[in-house]
Amino acid sequence: MTNPSLLILPGDGIGPEVMAEVRKVIDWFGANQGLNFDVSEDLVGGAAYDVHGVPLHDDTMAKALAVDAVLLGAVGGPKYDTLDFSVKPERGLLRLRKEMDLFSNLRPAQCFDALADFSSLKKDVVAGLDIMIVRELTSGVYFGEPRGIFEEGNERVGINTQRYTESEIDRVARSAFELARKRSGKVCSMEKANVMESGILWREVVQKVRDTDYPDIELSHMYADNGAMQLVRWPKQFDVIVTDNLFGDILSDCAAMLTGSLGMLPSASLGAPRANGRPAALYEPVHGSAPDIAGQGKANPIACVLSFAMALRYSFDAGAAADQLEAAVQKVLADGARTADLMGAEGGTPLTTTQMGDAIIAALSA
Ligand code: NAD
Ligand code: IPM
Ligand code: MN
Repeated sequence: MTNPSLLILPGDGIGPEVMAEVRKVIDWFGANQGLNFDVSEDLVGGAAYDVHGVPLHDDTMAKALAVDAVLLGAVGGPKYDTLDFSVKPERGLLRLRKEMDLFSNLRPAQCFDALADFSSLKKDVVAGLDIMIVRELTSGVYFGEPRGIFEEGNERVGINTQRYTESEIDRVARSAFELARKRSGKVCSMEKANVMESGILWREVVQKVRDTDYPDIELSHMYADNGAMQLVRWPKQFDVIVTDNLFGDILSDCAAMLTGSLGMLPSASLGAPRANGRPAALYEPVHGSAPDIAGQGKANPIACVLSFAMALRYSFDAGAAADQLEAAVQKVLADGARTADLMGAEGGTPLTTTQMGDAIIAALSA
């Protein structure tokens, strides 16, 4: 039997740094549990631009479509800020999402007990928190036409279009309801139906899918601005949140801080099941390339490690290995292991990226 295939795209900034730690974890599962993957590695983002003049080479795109799962680090950075929009590093990531049709982006925000004290919110607000944001990822204002910067009279106008079809809303709503069935059975849908027609349609379609096929799900609707406030006020009122591409981008960064650091938040971007039964899938941390700390060994690799745990669970039917990896992360945090982003005013010497990776490997081996 051939091994499942995994394409690794470390990308830019701290991407390669955190990915090096995930490589150790992948190797550990191979050596200790016979869980082997056909791993290949390629370029994305600025790293691809530097070599190919484009942020994603067609060959890399073809590979991404052929493998069982893609694991990505991060893209972008100041070096590429002045590039033409069409070849900016972020376009490489957006092309992957669009061409792999990864419409359902799962962004869990879980507060590990050991970090409850560290959140910028009070401990009782975040302790035990475990929510899942389902972000629509292949449509909305990120991709809607018309878009561009145009001449209008004697000035320019920048245009982006929020656009959702019924079927795009329908499929992401179903993925949220399916997930909710495995959790608490509760979904909150967020849009701005008070000011946007796309929000009115979003609310109608989500409600119809619920009424037709998921009557067991408890569905509520909330305006996204109120949702942002409620996430910070009392996040434990939520279980699954389903929302559009742009609101999901912002709300998930907000949810990241509930867990203590953006360096903790993994994500899975999933498409429809393919012929082999597995969904097209890309796993990546929610954070970016963190130019302010890149190259200094300060990055927290946990978001990327937990993204690999999601790959084990959603792409490789290895739920037990995923549980084990998540438990290892919990253990190192409980034992006091902290990268700089997880340290408060009390000080102390933070672990480097490599030391945190080593601590996770030691916990796996214990
Ligand atoms: P960012 O997520 O890179 O960084 C925001 C802040 O969080 C920074 O202070 C950074 O140091 C910190 N941070 C992020 N990840 C961390 C980690 N693992 N450990 C410790 N600290 C961490 O967001 P930004 O600064 O707005 O964007 C920088 C670049 O990354 C931009 O080019 C942006 O487009 C890109 N970006 C890429 C992705 C992605 O590849 N999926 C996501 C977000 C931003
Ligand atoms: C994210 C990022 C991306 C987005 C960028 C880098 C394209 O912020 O994955 O959250 O806006 O979706
Ligand atoms: Mn984002």
